[in-house]
Amino acid sequence: MADTNESSAPTDHHNEVAAEAHVNEENSRPGGHRHIRSFVLRQGHLSVAQKRAVDALMPRYGIPYQPGQLALDSAFGRNAPKILEIGFGMGGATAEIAQAHPETDYLALEVHTPGVGNLLKLIDEQALNNIRIIQHDAVEVLRDMIADGSLDGVHIFFPDPWHKARHNKRRLIQGPFIAKLVQKLKPGGYIHAATDWQDYAEQMLAVLSAEPQLQNTAADYAPRPAYRPLTKFEQRGIKLGHGVWDLVFKRCGAGK
Ligand SMILES: C[S@@+](CC[C@H](N)C(=O)[O-])C[C@H]1O[C@@H](n2cnc3c(N)ncnc32)[C@H](O)[C@@H]1O
Repeated sequence: MADTNESSAPTDHHNEVAAEAHVNEENSRPGGHRHIRSFVLRQGHLSVAQKRAVDALMPRYGIPYQPGQLALDSAFGRNAPKILEIGFGMGGATAEIAQAHPETDYLALEVHTPGVGNLLKLIDEQALNNIRIIQHDAVEVLRDMIADGSLDGVHIFFPDPWHKARHNKRRLIQGPFIAKLVQKLKPGGYIHAATDWQDYAEQMLAVLSAEPQLQNTAADYAPRPAYRPLTKFEQRGIKLGHGVWDLVFKRCGAGK
């Protein structure tokens, strides 16, 4: 997780502890669980400012989850390139990228309320009009709301690494999920993932390389694209010799 200390965003450790309790619960739902979730919802501290932002701004910048396809251009009020971000955390990178690229629209997904409140606050402070938020599980948003061939790109920055082997099944980047994600991309659209956990980086490289409709833009890991801001967490990590791996794959054009 990038910037865990600064952001008070969830930690993988907390997720993993909570996951122990939730795995059985998911598995014992009537009718069986639909999918293993890549997150565990925790209470988390919601600051007064974040709560105020949720109450005042979610009606304007939020899109409620609904089991029906979303008209993306209508949601943003214009025809412009559309990037989906999955798991924006506290939204710092989302706001920075959106501010630097006013010509592009960003549909940002997160389940964690303090993060949603924080990004809404940034949207308001920076008068950003090119971000919309859906507070819901990305797996269901993709399945139910996003039309095939409608996205120009997808950002998945520092997804929960689920360090322990018995929790690896909760990792978001796995073959079936990537196959669904690819369907949502326009030909030539990209998936950009980043992680600071080597084992997950290797899994990402294997999974993305195995998807026949994707082409790696690099030999293996890609240089960090200029649009992805270097977080304080990464700057500290780089000084300590820790790695960060970016992966950028493109959907092949029609025919492959
Ligand atoms: C480790 S944090 C990284 C946050 C941010 N991208 C960053 O770089 O700081 C991963 C985030 O993904 C969110 N997340 C995990 N699975 C998700 C899902 N299926 N749908 C939406 N958000 C999800 C978590 O709530 C968490 O905030």
